[in-house]
Amino acid sequence: NEIRQQITAYTIDTKEQLENFRIAYVGRKGAVAGLFELLKTVPAEERRAMGQELNSLKDLAQETFQAAQERLENSQSQQVTPDVDLTLPTIPNETGSLHPLTLIRQRIVEIFERLGFNVADGPEIEEDWYNFTALNFPENHPAREMQDTFFIEKNGPGKDILLHTHTSNIQVRLMETQQPPLRSIMPGRVYRNEAISARAHCFFHQIEGLYIDENVSFKDLKDTLYQFAQELFGSEVQVRFRPSYFPFTEPSAEMDISCEMHRPGGCRICGGTQNQCKGTGWVEILGSGMVDPNVLENCGIDSKKYTGFAFGMGIERIANLKYRVRDLRLYSENDVRFLRQFEQA
Ligand code: PHE
Repeated sequence: NEIRQQITAYTIDTKEQLENFRIAYVGRKGAVAGLFELLKTVPAEERRAMGQELNSLKDLAQETFQAAQERLENSQSQQVTPDVDLTLPTIPNETGSLHPLTLIRQRIVEIFERLGFNVADGPEIEEDWYNFTALNFPENHPAREMQDTFFIEKNGPGKDILLHTHTSNIQVRLMETQQPPLRSIMPGRVYRNEAISARAHCFFHQIEGLYIDENVSFKDLKDTLYQFAQELFGSEVQVRFRPSYFPFTEPSAEMDISCEMHRPGGCRICGGTQNQCKGTGWVEILGSGMVDPNVLENCGIDSKKYTGFAFGMGIERIANLKYRVRDLRLYSENDVRFLRQFEQA
C-alpha cells in the first residue's frame, strides 16, 4: 500500500523524472519487482491473494509510466509548433545588384583577358613622376593643364603628390618593374578637378591598356581595338581612327564607333537620340597611340628593341552608350531606382 501511494504521488514532468520512475518501480530491480521476490517467502495460502495484489500494483506502475511518457512527448511537440508558423509570409531577402560601372568594367576586362591581357593595379595617390613626368609631360607644359589635377602636396618640380588623373601611372610602374613582353590592362578610378554636371565629374573610371613587345605596330593597335569594339558593341559596328595628341604616344589616335542614327527603329548604340553622336554618326570611345620612345626610355625599356601601343577609355562613357544613360551624376548618387534597373543586365 505504501508503494501504491508512492506511485500515485510521483511527479513526472521531465524526461529525467520519467527515467527515475522507470528504474524505481517498473524496472527489473525496482520496488515492485522486489515485492515479487518476497512472494516466494509468503505461505502458500496467502500467496494467491498477494499475487493478485502485486499484479495490480505492477499494472499501476506500468500505466503511470506510459501515461507520463505520452504526456511528455505531446507537450514537446506542442512546444515546437508555435515557433514555426508555416502560414506566415517569408521575410523578404533583399539582395543588392552589381553597379552598372562594375558590370561594364567586368565585360571590358573579360574581352581583353581573352585577347591575352592581364589586369594590373596601382596607387590612386601618386607622385608627379608617374602621372606626368615619366609620361613625357614636360615641366610647365600646357598638356598638364589638359588634366585638371587635384594636388595633395606641392613639393617643387617633379615631386608633387597628387590624385592620379589617369591610370597611365600604372603603365609607368609596370614598365619600370617588368621587361617586355607586356600585355596588361589597368582599370581604376581617376580624379580631375572639374565642375560636376551631367557630362563631367570630379572622378570617373578608366580602363587603360598597354602592349609592348618586339615589332608591335600600329596595325596591331587597330586590330586589337577593332576586335574589342566588335565584341562589346556587336559585329556590325564600324570603327574609325582620327589623329589626336597625347604627350606619351606618337602617333596618337582617337577611336570612334559608328552610330546608326538613320537605322529604322533608331540607333542600337545611342538610342537614336543623337545624344552621344551629336548627329555626326560617330561616337568617340577611346584614345590610343604608339608609346612614345621617350616614355619607354624613361621607364628603362630599350626603345630600339621594343615598340608598343597604349589606349585608354572612360567606363562611364561606354556605360552611357550601352545603357543609354544621359547624366553622369546618376552613377554616384546611389539612387536604388536607378541601380535596380541593372539587376538583370
Ligand atoms: N591617359 C589618357 C587619358 O587619360 C588616355 C590614353 C591612354 C590615351 C593611352 C592614349 C593612350 O586621357
